[in-house]
Amino acid sequence: MAIRYKDTDPVRLSKDKHSIIIIDQTKLPSKVEYLEIDKLDDMYDAIKSLAVRGAPCIGIFAGYCMAILARQYKKLPADEFVSRLKADGEHLNSSRPTAVNLSWAVKRQLDLMDSSISSGLTVDQTATRIMSEAVAIHEEDIMMCMRIAEFGLSLLNDGDGILTHCNAGALATSRYGTGLGPLLLGRERGYHFHVYTDETRPLLQGARLTAFELVHAGIEDTVICDNMASLLMKQGKIQAVLVGCDRIAANGDTANKIGTSGVAIIAKHYGIPFYVLGPYSTIDVGTPDGDAIEIEERDPEEIRSMWYERPMAPKGVKCYNPAFDVTDHSLITAIITDKGIIKPPFERSIAQVMNIKKSSGRTMHFRRFS
Ligand code: MRU
Repeated sequence: MAIRYKDTDPVRLSKDKHSIIIIDQTKLPSKVEYLEIDKLDDMYDAIKSLAVRGAPCIGIFAGYCMAILARQYKKLPADEFVSRLKADGEHLNSSRPTAVNLSWAVKRQLDLMDSSISSGLTVDQTATRIMSEAVAIHEEDIMMCMRIAEFGLSLLNDGDGILTHCNAGALATSRYGTGLGPLLLGRERGYHFHVYTDETRPLLQGARLTAFELVHAGIEDTVICDNMASLLMKQGKIQAVLVGCDRIAANGDTANKIGTSGVAIIAKHYGIPFYVLGPYSTIDVGTPDGDAIEIEERDPEEIRSMWYERPMAPKGVKCYNPAFDVTDHSLITAIITDKGIIKPPFERSIAQVMNIKKSSGRTMHFRRFS
């Protein structure tokens, strides 16, 4: 498949392949503004500031970052090329710790670099391969999102009320998205869903981004404050919860936007299916369980003042701002991936899907995917 970029793609390569063009998601929904990025520091800042965000999208962006940097270094001697690209990859990885797709994409590019150089390719040829790999990562994500959308739609019924948290649509991935994929595909096929979108404090990815995407797609959407989900479930308005994911551990524990685990606990109470949707690149079999997932902590100002004309908490008051939480695998009805629908017991089914050798029910080894 040859990728044809669209203006609506959150990440794309410039025509001359010298820079990356992203939609600045910090400006949505009021303005659709683009940033053109070709410097390492700007790449780091784009991830850190959430101008580019959403686990798979950060992975796609990181793939292109490595490709642009490799091009810039292609006149260097091989050993310098290798050490510069490794150091840059490490720097990019340090921008946000929780979403595994970032380090997954960086590692995929660095592995390709190592194998290319050690098999005798020139630096120039290696840089060209890294560019093709970046495009391949993007293309794969488009295909994976389509498959996830198909699998997810098979679990829903026309007329369902769906609760979402954060943004797991095209802005966080490519085209269909993960968590929103079944809804967009369903809409194309004549389904009518009523989506309830958690605003998703503190950075409002639900209100700003998910609602923006759903309204543009013509899907009925109602934004609610995060603390209203329980009431809606009690009122019978929600038939399923669909969320994305930033890292799925080997036992099925899943990191996603802060507040996700609370939604899962309430959904369990009301007997409502709770579905996690994500590509295989979000499954990290090198992480045994949720306790091993590093949770990003962000600037307290995001809670105190960032989205308001006036501060919403007294100056100097302490604010704690973890950006993600971990939903225990026992609360998850199914994990919907591009490789199929994974059901409990997750440790075994994830190992099967990821092709991990098991013996007497115990996982023998883990491997990360590259
Ligand atoms: O901090 P963000 O906006 O990058 O957080 C995004 C999420 O938590 C998404 O739900 C997750 O990355 C999945 S996106 C398909």
